Amino acid sequence: MKNILLFADPGIDDSVAIMYALLNPDINILGIVSSYGNVEKKQATDNIAYLLKLAGRTDIPIIGGSNSPSSGEIPTYYPEIHGQEGLGPIRPPENFAGELTNFSKLYTIIEENQDVTIVDVGRNTSLASLYLLGEDIAEKVKEFYIMGGAFFVPGNVTPSAEANFYGDPIASELLVKNLDNLYIAPLNVTNKAIITLEQVKTIQEMNGNPLIEILDDVMTYYINAYKKLIPGINGAPLHDVVTLSLMVNPDMGKTIRRDVEVLTTGLGQGTSIADFRVSSKPAEKNINIYLEIDYQMFVNDFIEVMTRKR
Ligand code: RIB
Ligand code: CA
Repeated sequence: MKNILLFADPGIDDSVAIMYALLNPDINILGIVSSYGNVEKKQATDNIAYLLKLAGRTDIPIIGGSNSPSSGEIPTYYPEIHGQEGLGPIRPPENFAGELTNFSKLYTIIEENQDVTIVDVGRNTSLASLYLLGEDIAEKVKEFYIMGGAFFVPGNVTPSAEANFYGDPIASELLVKNLDNLYIAPLNVTNKAIITLEQVKTIQEMNGNPLIEILDDVMTYYINAYKKLIPGINGAPLHDVVTLSLMVNPDMGKTIRRDVEVLTTGLGQGTSIADFRVSSKPAEKNINIYLEIDYQMFVNDFIEVMTRKR
């Protein structure tokens, strides 16, 4: 069982990742950090609160993260992919508002729990703040999983940059330089974690859980958005879910241990670079980049977890 702190910006794939984590018997969510990213922080918070309510898990604290990137720039949101409110056509009920716990709660949780894993599937600003404001965070946290970057493949927001690293490259660069026991799930792997509408329908037929009831509408919106972006694609990639799935199923993917650099300015903003030449050396710190994934294993794991009643 993994004790996790999840940093997210829901967002459709973040929302499905929250559903997956809630239903996975191998994951214990200690708290969810809400930040700007796919949508603004207030909306992300309401979406997280709504999902926790549907799941009957309002005991999980929602912790207030960042409103904007380290550069102070106004964030860009992506309604064309995630919908105006971040859940496709679904919106939390009128007058529904999520309540936030103070950021300092993260330090209490890390002190009070053994073997905490941090999973960051959004812009990296809040996690970088945790590192900068805290003491020995890299040592106190057992391991870090980050969805971000793109190796050997084009980016998804610029020719070379992936959205999370592009959104706050200063924060991402700080993390890849300072964290230890770091696992990076980049686009070259997460792009392959495609879930189809047929698979969603199968899940929905097998599970009457209120949390799963909205999956069909949310995924239909997301898949249609991807079909416009990538003609011929038969589903949509669940970047944030596969990051969690890799965390609980380490044999599902193959990693290489290398130092990473994130470019912070100019045309290459957010671009991730690692040296994969035959002559290159493993990173001194335990920094691991996923390069391969067993797709069928991911689909099987996703369906198995999402069809669980609770
Ligand atoms: O590039 C994929 C990432 O960007 C995911 O975390 C997704 O939620 C989007 O924000
Ligand atoms: Ca995300």
